[in-house]
Amino acid sequence: MTATRLVPVETLHRIVEVATRAPSVHNTQPWLWRGGSHTLELFADRRYQLSETDPLGRNLTISCGAALHQAQVAAGALGWSTRVARHPDPAEPDLLAVIELSAGVASPTAQESLDAMDARCTDRRRFNAWPVPEERLAHLARIAHQWGARAVALTDESERYIAERLVRRAADQQRANPAIRAEQEHWLHRPAGDGVPAGALPDQVERAGRHAHRFEDAAREVHPGAEVEATDGLIVFFDTHDDPAAWLRVGEGLSAMWLGATLDGLCLVPLSQVIEVPETLQAFQVEVLGSLAHPLLLVRVGWRPTGGAPPDRTLRRPVSEVLELV
Ligand SMILES: Cc1cc2nc3c(=O)[nH]c(=O)nc-3n(C[C@H](O)[C@H](O)[C@H](O)COP(=O)(O)O)c2cc1C
Repeated sequence: MTATRLVPVETLHRIVEVATRAPSVHNTQPWLWRGGSHTLELFADRRYQLSETDPLGRNLTISCGAALHQAQVAAGALGWSTRVARHPDPAEPDLLAVIELSAGVASPTAQESLDAMDARCTDRRRFNAWPVPEERLAHLARIAHQWGARAVALTDESERYIAERLVRRAADQQRANPAIRAEQEHWLHRPAGDGVPAGALPDQVERAGRHAHRFEDAAREVHPGAEVEATDGLIVFFDTHDDPAAWLRVGEGLSAMWLGATLDGLCLVPLSQVIEVPETLQAFQVEVLGSLAHPLLLVRVGWRPTGGAPPDRTLRRPVSEVLELV
């Protein structure tokens, strides 16, 4: 070990606090951290795995990867260099990563990144109607690539058409499945510091801002509109393997991409249902990716809406519940 200075407990606490602001599926926050004198270990917390829609733990691991990215950015902002070992122990698969911390220098853009990660949210309203230029989408895909993930913008009209159709089919299938609906409802409007609060979903009365999303009430007769608008940018994360190593990379790439998007005035919304439903996952792989790779996450990207109230901030469990100091 090269690090000599002990990492103060307050620093570990602050890094984990920033990491907990990461996005996670249904805001489940499926992570646990263990802090030592020079390290932070990240574990998957299987208690928060969604058994109906995420039996493999793909979305759980992507969520943890997002927290891993935010932890690294936070450490850098606080003047600590990081070296990360991912899946360091095959005998302990839930140990997803070990971050080794050594004294370094805070980067000049650190505060801006911290502010953007704090401001980031999942804004499910209809985006502003200006299309996102292809070059911007390619730039976001490159950011993910810098973090080891592979992503590509879907710009071809026929690919987009197929992707939209599959997104709709996946949403319809899940709405028709009582067990999946029950699982989702369990994570809506919770009193504690997790789940998706009503105020984070598009306002029922704000018609101009309405946009179809996965938390729509299945009983509603009037469908608010498309899940994907013609002007939305679409980016798919993919890999040659559909395994935990690839999922963790997607999470880090997703979070880095989301940070880049936020700094650019763009919004990003994951559309994971199409990957969760085996039939649409398979169709996406064949019809959109030509069977060349596994799709792992689809996201839509657009310009931040200018009018109306932004979504409420989603809550997080306190650091004391997710950080153990040894
Ligand atoms: C792996 C993953 C999958 C997600 N899937 C969806 C989705 O299909 N639809 C959606 O509206 N939000 C989705 N989200 C966004 C989460 O619901 C959101 O991050 C969480 O509620 C916390 O809110 P925040 O992003 O505003 O902090 C996903 C997030 C992650 C990390």
